[in-house]
Amino acid sequence: MDSLQKLIHQLIESGELISATLSQRRKREPDAFNKVIIKPVELKKQLHYQFAYHYNNKVTHENVPAAEAERPLMELFEQSMRQGLLCTTEADYQVLISKKYKVSILTKTATKTEADLNHNRKKRYILDEGEPVPFLVELGIMNADGKVFAKKYDKFRQINRFLEMVQDILPSLPEDRELTIVDFGCGKSYLTFALYHYLNIQQRRPLRIVGLDLKADVIQHCSQLADKLNYDKLQFLVGDIADYNELDQVDMVVTLHACDTATDAALEKAVRWDASVILSVPCCQHELFSQVENDALSPLLSHGILKERFSALATDAIRAKLLDLMGYRTQLLEFIDMEHTPKNILIRAVKGSAGDTTTMWQEYSVFRNMLQARPYLENACRDLLPQETASEAAL
Ligand SMILES: C[S@@+](CC[C@H](N)C(=O)[O-])C[C@H]1O[C@@H](n2cnc3c(N)ncnc32)[C@H](O)[C@@H]1O
Repeated sequence: MDSLQKLIHQLIESGELISATLSQRRKREPDAFNKVIIKPVELKKQLHYQFAYHYNNKVTHENVPAAEAERPLMELFEQSMRQGLLCTTEADYQVLISKKYKVSILTKTATKTEADLNHNRKKRYILDEGEPVPFLVELGIMNADGKVFAKKYDKFRQINRFLEMVQDILPSLPEDRELTIVDFGCGKSYLTFALYHYLNIQQRRPLRIVGLDLKADVIQHCSQLADKLNYDKLQFLVGDIADYNELDQVDMVVTLHACDTATDAALEKAVRWDASVILSVPCCQHELFSQVENDALSPLLSHGILKERFSALATDAIRAKLLDLMGYRTQLLEFIDMEHTPKNILIRAVKGSAGDTTTMWQEYSVFRNMLQARPYLENACRDLLPQETASEAAL
């Protein structure tokens, strides 16, 4: 094993290693990984090696700082894998280990180039192209070899962007119990499946996810797919958000492009559950359009298209302020939308005080009165908000 140890040390220390593929398990075990693919990746501006462990029906990832990668790679050869192909721009090294641990290393012509090295080191998505992910294959986003279909690349990026946002809020979710997540208005559920895959399979977090939608045919299709993928803690139900009363404790509420005030109904549920995290991308905000009035804003409001966009933005400003008032720290972030329309704002609210509620209520009521708005969310959550005084109402 000394010659192999020396080679691995040299390739990692010099940063020459472009990829390593380890295969042929020493002992066949049905639940163990049967292949490991290792690639350099840049994370937080530092070189890491990503170890992708391929099992029969899943792939898990571990990112190891380059300085610490030598030991786990060597251990894989020592403990479980009998074959390896280590690639650099200079040469490929084929490693073969006999049953009695005799090592042979064959040096071959390089099959990788500098371009492969740079490609591997570029920013990586949470779900990587080139590695088949069962739900993405089933949803027709990639083929069985992990190649993303050209027409589905936008969807692939959107899913990854969503998962990056989920990754950011992971520390805000409870760690001491099974997580409960509800996706309201889940529709075809691309992002619901992505959430399940990321949290349950990649992050190994115990959880259950409920997807709810009005459309029975879509829900039936999603349920069949969850069964096929063996996602046994992912449940799809037909129902209206406002009537959903089946759970007592929910840790995270997701609602993506639920129409008009369906978003507000979802936000109300989330607040009443005291959910730790809310991720919401609103859509089709018609409510304020029919309410908003202010003579001083007539140059804006007299143009239908401007009034529509202004009403949508004002609705999100109102939602964010109301969530702050109800004990959340709320941010509005850009979300990639498939149609590149203005429907690209994600409301991310994390449980925790956003500041002085008296000042926030003052700011909120001035804004709402200026627009003569009567927001659904305020009405629905009146018992959770400060009581309005007669002088505020008259403002
Ligand atoms: C534009 S689709 C978005 C689907 C999915 N969340 C996504 O982002 O791809 C909106 C979905 O919300 C559902 N929906 C709208 N109002 C609803 C309500 N009150 N209760 C449950 N589902 C609702 C619709 O049936 C539709 O499937």
